Parts: sequence; C-alpha cells; structure tokens
Amino acid sequence: MEGTGVEKSIDFDLVADLYDTYVDVDFDVGFYLDYCKQYKRVLELMCGTGRVSVPLIEAGVDLTCVDYSQEMLNVLSSKLSSSNDTTVLCQDVTELDLADQFDLIFVPFNSFSEITDASKREQAFQRASKHLVKGGTLFVTLYNPEYRKLSADGSTKTLGRFELDDGKHLVVSYFNSYSQPEQLVHGTQFYEIFDQSDQLVEKRQMEIRFSLIQKEEMLALAEDAGFKLQIIYGDYQGTPFAQNSMFMNFEFVKQETPRITPPMTIDELLFFDAKPGTLPLYEAVRDSIFAYSEDIIVKVSKTQIAFSNRYQFAFVSHQRVKGSRSPYILLTFGLGRREEHPRIAVATEPYPGRWTHHVVISTVADVDDQIMEWVTEAYDFASIKGMRNQG
Ligand SMILES: C[S@@+](CC[C@H](N)C(=O)[O-])C[C@H]1O[C@@H](n2cnc3c(N)ncnc32)[C@H](O)[C@@H]1O
Repeated sequence: MEGTGVEKSIDFDLVADLYDTYVDVDFDVGFYLDYCKQYKRVLELMCGTGRVSVPLIEAGVDLTCVDYSQEMLNVLSSKLSSSNDTTVLCQDVTELDLADQFDLIFVPFNSFSEITDASKREQAFQRASKHLVKGGTLFVTLYNPEYRKLSADGSTKTLGRFELDDGKHLVVSYFNSYSQPEQLVHGTQFYEIFDQSDQLVEKRQMEIRFSLIQKEEMLALAEDAGFKLQIIYGDYQGTPFAQNSMFMNFEFVKQETPRITPPMTIDELLFFDAKPGTLPLYEAVRDSIFAYSEDIIVKVSKTQIAFSNRYQFAFVSHQRVKGSRSPYILLTFGLGRREEHPRIAVATEPYPGRWTHHVVISTVADVDDQIMEWVTEAYDFASIKGMRNQG
C-alpha cells in the first residue's frame, strides 16, 4: 500500500491509534451486516480502522476496503488475521483506480462529507460509477444538514472519557462551527491522555472540516454519473428520509446506459438492395453489435459488411450456404478457438490460432444471447490479438 500525499480535510493519521477507543459506536453495523447479504463483491470506501469492515469480513462478506489514511489502514490490517485475504488499499476515493468492479459500493459514517470540494465530489461519483457493474448499488450516508448544523454552534463540548489499555485514560473534547456561505463545518478536536494518577501526559489536536451537503446536490451528482435514486433512508432501521431525520442515506443504482446506434449509411442500405428481405436481419445483428460497444467501424465492400474495432471481428454477407432457405444472411466471426455447435454452419482455421465461424441468420430471433456471446468474444479477441481480413 502506498501513501497518497493529498491534502486531507481531516487528518486521521494523527489519531489513528486512538480512533477505536473514542469512536466506540456500532449503531449502523447491524444494518450493513444485513444489507451486504444481497451482494457478492462489496467495496467499502473511507473504511478507516474497519469499525464496519471487520464485522462484515468476519460475517464472510467479500469486501475490499479503501481509505487514504495509511495509519487508519494499518490499524484495520492489524485486526485481520494473517490468513485473511481482504484487499485493503490506500487511495483517495476521488481518484479511485482499482482493477475490479463491484456489485455494491458503500460509504459509511457520513464520511463523504469530508470531500469538501464540490468538483471532487463529482469526481468521486464518477469514479464510483466506473467501479460498479451495471445495475450495481451505491450507498452513501450523510447527516441531514438541517440536523447537523444545530450542534455546530462554536461551543466546546466533551465527547467523553475513555479507558486506554495501560491504565491511562483519554478525554476527547471538541468545538465546531458552521459557515453558511461555504456550507462547511470546521473546528478542532482535542485529545488529552492522563496517567493512573490523573496527570496529563500527552496532548494532541486535530483540525476538522467537512461539508454539509444538500440532498439536491447529491441527486444532481448521482444523475450526472448515471445513477438512479432508489430510496433515501433517514436512519439505519429502514425508515424513509423526512425533513427531521438525523441521517440522509442514499441508495442509488447504476443505470444501464442506452447506447445510440448510428444510422445506417447509404452503402449499407444499398448492400441489401437486391435482397430487401434480409435487411431486418442485418439490422438486428447491427443493433446488437452497437449495443455492446460504440467504438465500431462499419465498412461495406462488394461482398460483405465488416465490423471492426482495432481489427475486423465480424462480417455479414449474402454468401450461399447449402440447404439454407432464403431469406437469410451469413454472419461470420473470428475466435481464438474452435467452437463446436449445431448452429455453426462452417468453421475454418485460415491462420494458426484464429478460427473463422459462419452462422446462418434467417430470423430476427436468431440474433440471440448465444450469437452475442460469440460476437462479443470475437470483438474482444480482435481488440487484443488483431485479425486479418476474412479471407
Ligand atoms: C470519520 S472516519 C470513518 C471511518 C470508518 N468508516 C468508520 O465508520 O469508523 C472517515 C474516514 O474517511 C477517510 N477519508 C476521508 N476522505 C477520504 C478520501 N478522499 N479518500 C479516501 N479516504 C478518505 C479518512 O481517512 C477516515 O479514515
């Protein structure tokens, strides 16, 4: 794991060793234990020392944990057994860059408000979207700003006295104030450690700064990043959000992005001039291919229409196939392996390691999931390996 060196709105590195002592709450843990059951791969952002993560991991949730405080993550890692294979990563969530996609991403304990720059919040939503599968869930928890600003009154308050392991005790106090124009809460937390005879032996302080984000901003951020709102909860018992709720917990679902299929060119239409009955078959194939990717070039020649990404991966032609009754088109695609299937009319190996397969398409219904599985495999094969002309 690497440190990130970014400017932090609250530098939890300063108190990571004390965090679990003074943040001794678990009001939300039962909720997550239940909620995560529905999901396979789960990513927790801003996980800290694992207040929520550890119970989830112990319950068998397939969890990946991200935070930008290396010290907080060190505490989390120290709580995991050496045989545990949970991925724990030090990253800024506004720059999130992981190799995987997840079914659920959640941000517990109002931590999203620590992103105090609005454009960074936008970035965080975009990054979260990139790391979710289509239809995946993003769950972001916040304080209801109307509720939270009431306690940001500038007065010094004591959070509590907490026993430390070595007979010492910790007293945490704080003040915070609300600045309306910037919608920011800022203040200071004080940490005083006393020995057995009540002598002050250590003093620390940590500046805090977080945003009170409005519901409307969250909805706009989510919409811009391609999410649909499912529900806003006002607590961790499943109660819908109301004006006087303490929390504002958003459940968003990543939308399936409808792709726009470019209109057919004159050349494509002319290719079907002599056999107009086959045009709907071509249209079905073409729509399915563009639904998979927009980065496709269509090239029409005398004998075929070729689809390419970096290289050509699929072809449509009027080539005759013995025993097939008109109207039909022949769909050809190249794979890195030979597929044996009753629907494959012919398979040849024009070059070592590249198999050309031909399938007859005689109804629109023939362009089904099986065909798309082969064509998308051909797409991926061509984008990696490259593929020469159909031959
Ligand atoms: C209040 S703590 C919450 C920790 C933990 N989720 C919990 O419930 O106890 C907020 C955490 O968010 C992390 N954090 C804040 N901004 C972050 C960012 N941009 N990227 C990654 N982590 C961030 C902090 O380092 C800190 O560990």
